[in-house]
Amino acid sequence: MSKCPYHQTTTAGAPVTDNQNSLSAGPRGPLLLQDHHLLEKLAHQNRERIPERVVHAKGWGAFGTFTVTHDISAHSRAAIFAGVGKQTPMLARFSTVAGEMGAADAERDVRGFALKFYTEEGNWDLVGNNTPVFFIRDPLKFPDFIHTQKRHPRSNLRSPTAMWDFWSLSPESLHQVTILFSDRGIPVTPMHMNGYGSHTYSLWNQAGERFWVKFHFKTQQGWQTMTNAESGQVIGKSRESYQEALFGAIESGRFPRWTVQVQVMSEQQAEEWSNRTGFNPFDLTKVWPHADAPLQQVGVIELNRNPANYFAEIEQAAFSPSNTVPGIGASPDKMLQARLFSYADAHRYRLGTHYEALPVNQPRCPVHHYHKDGAMRFFANDTGNPDAYYEPNSMNGPTEAPQYKEPPLAVDGMADRYSHRDGNDDFAQPRALWALFDDAHKARLYGNIAAAMAGVPANIVERQLALFAQIHPDYAAGVTAALAQ
Ligand code: NDP
Ligand code: HEM
Repeated sequence: MSKCPYHQTTTAGAPVTDNQNSLSAGPRGPLLLQDHHLLEKLAHQNRERIPERVVHAKGWGAFGTFTVTHDISAHSRAAIFAGVGKQTPMLARFSTVAGEMGAADAERDVRGFALKFYTEEGNWDLVGNNTPVFFIRDPLKFPDFIHTQKRHPRSNLRSPTAMWDFWSLSPESLHQVTILFSDRGIPVTPMHMNGYGSHTYSLWNQAGERFWVKFHFKTQQGWQTMTNAESGQVIGKSRESYQEALFGAIESGRFPRWTVQVQVMSEQQAEEWSNRTGFNPFDLTKVWPHADAPLQQVGVIELNRNPANYFAEIEQAAFSPSNTVPGIGASPDKMLQARLFSYADAHRYRLGTHYEALPVNQPRCPVHHYHKDGAMRFFANDTGNPDAYYEPNSMNGPTEAPQYKEPPLAVDGMADRYSHRDGNDDFAQPRALWALFDDAHKARLYGNIAAAMAGVPANIVERQLALFAQIHPDYAAGVTAALAQ
């Protein structure tokens, strides 16, 4: 095909002869329906928006590399971990949770920390946060929890009453609430915070042995945080402080890095730990104390390339905890189990049936599946044979690969709706965290909580203070004093 001259075209490739003046009958109009270039421009503009993510709508992302620095092949057969020095291309998207796409970057909120690794055995997505725990431990409560973070149906305002009503009725939230209102609740930029896989996931090795694992991403830039007053000043100047910082750093060659670490327990060690501590190793509101499961080095991620087009590569990025690869798997964590469904479902709604074939989501390895047709099917049936569009077939179409099968997992118990509150200690770990804070940090924690409780009815505040008191009487007293100021 001959190379076209470099001029503006319609979407069908025809030259645009005038991009300044509409086609009209006479200089003063009216316009003519045959001006298909005008119609195309207006029609396309009407279709520029897609649904924003229902949570984590505001985000910032970049591409980079993951490099293995330590051998963990004894724990995982995943190709991404095969050999010290091995590099895998990746994408990261950071986000706030509650704010809409236009929200200010520097608001107090948990930050999303979503990673997509383009491995040769498929995409591995680790969709984590900048906190090691979460507010709830049963996914049945996720839509309720998110409703408290989003706008009130009548006032269309965020509702502190809804937030504290829910939290004060959900003691499992105390750990994450304490992190949220501590200094780490407002990182200065996405580069100045850690990431955590948060859930317990699994690794399995060539011998078919399974290990439980938690992933940690430690910022090499160091944690840097803002106070409420400082974030107010930043937001007063710019709503886009994170985008400016991340984009600017990469554009100027200051590539941010994180050290990748894992905590690993064998199935037996997890059982023993659970028996000893009373904690469920799959409870998302709990960490594994470092003393019980030491951090092991794995590698480093570096972000070194800004997207060429934000919408195409960051807005259309689709991260899902269900994107695992041989050697890395899920765990029984009920929250994770629900997420294995929820994300791909959201992607089909938000981006369309073939979202996985968009360039940013497309695996960097060959893809052979038998899904057929659907809106915007823009790629061929890549089974190597147009007649092989079902399976089994005798056309040499691709077949299953049992050599990659995950080791079997023993499960037991009666099917029932088990209380996720009974017998759970929701206070010991927040207490351990609170005890880490020096007096000045504690004072900021109390002040931040008091500020966020403005306008909340007294009975809800009292209920929350009673929960803080179970972490430590001084915690409740500190918040009470801050409320009185
Ligand atoms: P350790 O003393 O070994 O670890 C404490 C950890 O707390 C630090 O390593 C650091 O984790 C993290 N931390 C320090 N300052 C803050 C802060 N302002 N806000 C949030 N986290 C902070 O004790 P344990 O492992 O026994 O954990 C004690 C408590 O520390 C836990 O109950 C939990 O609240 C918190 N924590 C524990 C983590 C874990 O995986 N064990 C991870 C993060 C927090 P990091 O190096 O990851 O920044
Ligand atoms: C985004 C559901 C818990 C981290 C999303 C999205 C949905 C969702 C539907 C939007 C996806 C999209 O449109 O692309 C849920 C459900 C949860 C849950 C049902 C619990 C049952 C969590 C937890 C974490 C987390 C525990 C972190 C540990 C994220 C992140 C994003 C996200 C980082 C943004 C991903 C991106 O950058 O595109 N979640 N979520 N979520 N969630 Fe969750």
